[in-house]
Amino acid sequence: QTDIPAVKDVVTEFPVGVAITGAEIISEHGELLNRHFASVTPGNALKWDATEPSENTFTYAQADPLIAYAKANDLAIRGHTLVWHNQTPAWVFTGADGQPMTATAEDKTLLLARLENHIRNVAAHYGTDIGVWDVVNEVIDESQSDGLRRSTWHTVTGLDYIRTAFRVAREVAPHAKLFINDYNTNVPAKRDHLFTLVQRLRAEGVPIDGVGHQVHINVNWPTIAESEAMLAKFVPLGIEQQITEMDVSIYTNESENFATPPADRLLKQAYVYRDMFALFRRYAGEITSVTLWGLADDNTWLDTFPVTRKDAPLLFDTRLQAKSAYWGVTDPARIE
Ligand code: G3I
Repeated sequence: QTDIPAVKDVVTEFPVGVAITGAEIISEHGELLNRHFASVTPGNALKWDATEPSENTFTYAQADPLIAYAKANDLAIRGHTLVWHNQTPAWVFTGADGQPMTATAEDKTLLLARLENHIRNVAAHYGTDIGVWDVVNEVIDESQSDGLRRSTWHTVTGLDYIRTAFRVAREVAPHAKLFINDYNTNVPAKRDHLFTLVQRLRAEGVPIDGVGHQVHINVNWPTIAESEAMLAKFVPLGIEQQITEMDVSIYTNESENFATPPADRLLKQAYVYRDMFALFRRYAGEITSVTLWGLADDNTWLDTFPVTRKDAPLLFDTRLQAKSAYWGVTDPARIE
């Protein structure tokens, strides 16, 4: 399908990109990626388990080919992610005594030293090739009264892992925009906790440049008004916002399971993409990039989450053909 407009030629207010795992950079997938998108995010290759599987042994075998491809094809790169509670090897949280770390001064010193060493190595390896880093990912938990996720990072260091991560990332990658990234930021309680944390840390001088909204949503949820409130909340902070992991599931609860995506769901999905991109473009002064969490429906994390079933959350179908969702983004008059 080379007769249809390129997404990046239609949406020019900010780069639009996709997450890639490897298969996207070869043959037809690579052509589709290059034709439509302006940015990529390695979906797994830059995470801790991929880059430092054992202590102080760094390997970029997964990420280097993706980064080289992006550079060769003029795609901007979002670095995801330096610090997370998932996909982090167990050794990181194991103390010098071989036991799981706890809130002791000794464990805290060791954990922050490991964090600093990790960021120094990974961020330095890519230098200016990576212009944006998700420095910390998913640190908010609105079920806690203080809104802070009780990860081992938090248990052992309090907020110091966040402070250290941003400080070191700024030092090693002074050119890069540094982001705090999270999901469900359209949920008022979560959004408010994130806002409070960012405001507090920035007041301390922690170098946070932007807020990343993942935007894993579905055809029924949330409303556009709720998504607008998510963006509006952060405007007073005067920081960048990015949409970092968008997809729109065709499912609205865990018990549904469709062998093929129903036409009415795909239509609803097209309207969600239409309305969300219209919203993003209205906030073009705040939003500096929009990333979809995948290139086409043949490769999506939603096929196994929250249960195993075929989902279809992206702009192109499993045969790489443009869906109604694609027209929602590029030319809503042609949604059918
Ligand atoms: O690499 C192993 C492979 O060796 C093994 O054979 C295979 C069998 O299960 O698993 C492979 O690892 C999988 C990995 O993706 C790479 O494909 C993991 O099981 C699987 O859990 C992992 O899922 C990733 C998920 O993060 C893990 O938390 C998804 O691909 C990735 O898209 C997803 O991305 C996250 C963002 O980083 C943060 N926000 C939410 C988003 C969606 O969950």
